Amino acid sequence: MSFDPQSLEKIPRHVALIMDGNGRWAQERGLPRIEGHKEGAQSVRAVLRAAAQAGVEFITVYAFSTENWKRPAREVDGLMKLLISSLNAYEQELHDNHIRLRVMGQFDRLPLLVRKRLKKTLDATAHYTDHTFIIALSYGSRMEIADASRQIAEKVKSGELQAKEIDEQMISDHLYLPDVPDPELMVRTSGELRLSNFLLWQLSYSEFHITDTYWPDFREEQFFQALEAYNARDRRYGGVKKSR
Ligand code: IPE
Ligand code: IPE
Ligand code: MG
Repeated sequence: MSFDPQSLEKIPRHVALIMDGNGRWAQERGLPRIEGHKEGAQSVRAVLRAAAQAGVEFITVYAFSTENWKRPAREVDGLMKLLISSLNAYEQELHDNHIRLRVMGQFDRLPLLVRKRLKKTLDATAHYTDHTFIIALSYGSRMEIADASRQIAEKVKSGELQAKEIDEQMISDHLYLPDVPDPELMVRTSGELRLSNFLLWQLSYSEFHITDTYWPDFREEQFFQALEAYNARDRRYGGVKKSR
């Protein structure tokens, strides 16, 4: 598909995506759920490519939530293995496009092999500054906010901070990736109208684009459509519409 990023007035710096519908995609084809996840991994690749083309600096994908640990062990296992094989297969593309990999979530809860494999790519891409690819893994937003609150409370207890100094910026500064700007755009596939514990704080003023497309069918074209939808939005931040 031919797409000209110059045709868009504004390009978001950061797009966050809830990759949903892999299971239904597989089910509709009479395939095991893991096949949907495998096809979904190709969509991640497509989105990274499209984001680089459009000039989007940060991509965050919700790959595994704190709630997803409740899924059958077989599926959880399959997802962890898929993560390792995807890193093996696509790491070169991160280098080719100067993309830094980062992760957010409960890193210590991941299996040792996954942590080791991630660490290798995290270190190998840490010097890239053009683009950042963030995987939310064993991530839950309420947990993130609770972790931030605990850290701030400890600083107050030790006297490093005073309670009256706590403001919005301080809370942002204690989240998992304080240096990453809030997403301007959040995309959720497969038509579900909920956040499922994703970036509750960071998405306070983001635009939402919900598409019925299942994640495995979400490729470059669908990503560009999301950017176009974002362009048509009028962001007012609680103010009044500016007359042109
Ligand atoms: C999203 O697809 C991937 C993960 C949550 C890991 P699902 O696995 O949730 O697919 P559906 O929602 O069951 O179709
Ligand atoms: C949200 O999808 C989590 C991820 C995409 C990783 P889920 O399929 O787990 O969310 P619910 O169950 O529909 O809320
Ligand atoms: Mg789902």
